[in-house]
Amino acid sequence: MTTPEEFNLRAWGLPDPAELAALAAGWFPEFAGAEPAARTAEATARTAAARPRAPADWEALAAGPGPSPEPPAYAPLVLPQDRAGSAAAGAYGPPPDPAARTGNTYKYSQIYVGSRSLEAIRADFPIFREQVNGRDLVWLDNAATTQRPRQVIDRLSRYYERENSNVHRGAHELAARSTDAYEDARGKAARFIGAPSADNIVFVRGATEGINLAAQAYVRPYLKPGDEIVLTMLEHHANIVPWQLVAGETGAVLRVAPIDRTGQIVLSEYGRLFNSRTRFAAITQVSNALGTVTPAAEMVQIAHSRGVRVLIDGAQSVSHLPVNVSALDADFFVFSGHKIFGPTGIGVLYGKSDVLEAARPYQGGGNMIADVTFERTVYRKAPAKFEAGTGNIADAVGLGAALDYVSAIGMENIAAWERELLRYAMKEMAGVPGLRLIGTAAEKASVFSFVLEGRGLEETGSYLNSRGIAVRAGHHCAQPVHRYFGLEGTVRPSLAFYNTPEEIDRLVRALYELA
Ligand code: ALA
Repeated sequence: MTTPEEFNLRAWGLPDPAELAALAAGWFPEFAGAEPAARTAEATARTAAARPRAPADWEALAAGPGPSPEPPAYAPLVLPQDRAGSAAAGAYGPPPDPAARTGNTYKYSQIYVGSRSLEAIRADFPIFREQVNGRDLVWLDNAATTQRPRQVIDRLSRYYERENSNVHRGAHELAARSTDAYEDARGKAARFIGAPSADNIVFVRGATEGINLAAQAYVRPYLKPGDEIVLTMLEHHANIVPWQLVAGETGAVLRVAPIDRTGQIVLSEYGRLFNSRTRFAAITQVSNALGTVTPAAEMVQIAHSRGVRVLIDGAQSVSHLPVNVSALDADFFVFSGHKIFGPTGIGVLYGKSDVLEAARPYQGGGNMIADVTFERTVYRKAPAKFEAGTGNIADAVGLGAALDYVSAIGMENIAAWERELLRYAMKEMAGVPGLRLIGTAAEKASVFSFVLEGRGLEETGSYLNSRGIAVRAGHHCAQPVHRYFGLEGTVRPSLAFYNTPEEIDRLVRALYELA
């Protein structure tokens, strides 16, 4: 019988497990054929001290593309088995000059993401100068939060130094500056996700608040006992609990779409969950626990064909894939600033004009009103209707700077580079003895969760931390999907575009030490 791991390795076009084991043995000859117990502390220490020998295909890669009468500006950094049909080919890579490399290590300046070198990109992030436990920081906890480039940090400072005022109130110069900066950020958010207008963008505290707003302000008022809300097994608690709250208050019930053993939605089953009682559906675009990229557009179509509106949770997708809410035909779409290199405490709820119009206010207060008497209040139109009180102005402006930053690199380029890094990481990790990858759908972004036989989640996370490597270990606020796999959690490395093959090598080496 084919195990899910074998199935998925094939789905990924990766070598079979025997080949991977041979590859691993090539890295660590002293461990070839040895049982874990036979790995002495001495051998482990020796291995830790030495850089792993490169697998054959990495060496071939390091040798470069070979002589070419017209050398390209840079050659694709793709593993040999990835070359055919890779959408990313040519999008980035090292130049043909082999002398530009140190051993098997690519100099960051020789890897390009879009038109920018990885070296230049990494230099934008001051935190990468930090050392953790005596080693350069390896940040592989991007699904929990991303790091901020200087451009965002500087934009926040500039806001406080030169523009700070409340918005939409006051006739003075600083009120005009801060209002311009805040509304400019709203326009950037609209363009970034392909929204028709800035009026479709509500600033919220983050994806969680966006989902709660949609649940309370739009869905709850028309729920009746026995009505149904369709979710999926992949959801983060933020896309489960708000629906449970409204269901509990109204007598509605939740229905959950199944996933297969790779962690992908079973699309053929999805439509069966809809019936005359279905009132709403909510789906993630990328799973925070498994990295699965769901067929969100198809799921929206299925829901719409049954007359059901859909919210897409984009918390884990916007920083990894180009997103267009109009192409997705999403009714609501949410994301958080801190997961896309922007500040914490700011996020976006996108809503189609008619759903924002139909929704009642979420909170009452200043800014959201057109006229107030003690008898009644006339509300402003969206988005103001949902932005009671003084908002998180500076961080909205910072979010605008973050969206400018990634847009300048290009989301297509970011997606292509991360896909190559992810394939490299999964291929290398599959050779670690006792390591089981959890979530191996063919469509995946950023996340490569695993469990390591005989090692606890905390233990693995702590060991990696001792090597300067930050990953999240636990249930990642998505307990149902872990339980579906018979687990209480995983160790979860997660990528962003500033990560490097060298950092993957450090992770994999540490896992070999621990395995
Ligand atoms: N939702 C964040 C995560 O997945 C915090 O880690």
